[in-house]
Amino acid sequence: MPDKDALLEMIGIYKSFGEVEVLINVNFKVGKNEIVGLVGDNGAGKSTLIKIITGVHRPDKGEIYFKGKKITYHSVELSRDLGIETVYQERALGEQQTLWRNIFMGREIRDRFGFLRIDKEKEETEKILRKHMGFTSKAITPDSIVKYLSGGEKQGIAIGRALYFNAELIILDEPTMGLSLSETKKVLDFVLNIKKNGKSAIFISHNIYYVYPVADRFVILDRGHIAGEFLKSEISQEELVNKMVELARTGKME
Ligand SMILES: Nc1ncnc2c1ncn2[C@@H]1O[C@H](COP(=O)(O)OP(=O)(O)O)[C@@H](O)[C@H]1O
Ligand SMILES: [Mg+2]
Repeated sequence: MPDKDALLEMIGIYKSFGEVEVLINVNFKVGKNEIVGLVGDNGAGKSTLIKIITGVHRPDKGEIYFKGKKITYHSVELSRDLGIETVYQERALGEQQTLWRNIFMGREIRDRFGFLRIDKEKEETEKILRKHMGFTSKAITPDSIVKYLSGGEKQGIAIGRALYFNAELIILDEPTMGLSLSETKKVLDFVLNIKKNGKSAIFISHNIYYVYPVADRFVILDRGHIAGEFLKSEISQEELVNKMVELARTGKME
C-alpha cells in the first residue's frame, strides 16, 4: 500500500538501457515540504531516476504514486500538470530574451479576447523576483536579459518560475554544476526558499557539502541500488561523507 503521507512514492522501480541495468528495485519517497538530497557517484542512476519521475523515461517495472494517486501514464506534460517541475543546469532559458518573457513562455497571460497581457506579465515577474525569490538587487528587473544574469541567478529564476506556477515538487539535477562558490551559495538559498514556500524538492548532487546544509533527508544511490537513507538528525555531515567514501572504496556501506 502506498504511504498516504508521502508526496511522491516510487516502489520497486527497475530500468535498463539495453543490457545495462541502471535502476534495480529502487524504492524512493519524498514527503510533503521535504527536501531530499539524492546523492551518489556519476553513473549511479540519479538522473535516470528523476527522468522517470518527470515522464522522460518509462520504468520497466514498478509503481509511482503522486499525492497517493497512482501514475499510470508517463509524459513530461502530465508530470508538469501534476505539479512536478525540473530545473536543469543546462535548461534553456532563452538567453537573448527578457525575464518576463522567459517566465511566461508557454504559459502566457491573456485577456478574454486572447491578447497578451504584457503589462501583467511584467508586474507578476516583479513579484516573483522580490517575493518568491527574494532578489534584492535593483540591477535585476523584469526587463533584464537572461544572458546577463549569473549562473546562480538563472537557477533562481527557474526555481521562482516553478514556485509561481505552484509546483509541489521541484527537481534540481546538479544545479550547482559549473558555478562558482558564491553562485552556489545563492542556489542553495533558493533551494531553502522552496522549503519556506511549503513545497518539496529533490536536490541531486555528487557533492555532499552542498547537499548537507539544505536537505532534510539523504538518499544514497549506488550503481542502481539504494545504498542507504538517513535523516539529517541521524547523521553528521562528516559521517555521511565517510560513508560515501567507504562505499566508493569497498562497494559496501556499514
Ligand atoms: N538514454 C540512455 N541510454 C543508454 N544508457 C543510458 C541512458 N541514460 C543513462 N544511461 C546510463 O545509465 C547509467 C546511469 O546514468 P545517470 O542516470 O545519468 O547517472 P547519474 O545521473 O547518477 O550520473 C550510466 O551508465 C549511463 O551511461
Ligand atoms: Mg546525472
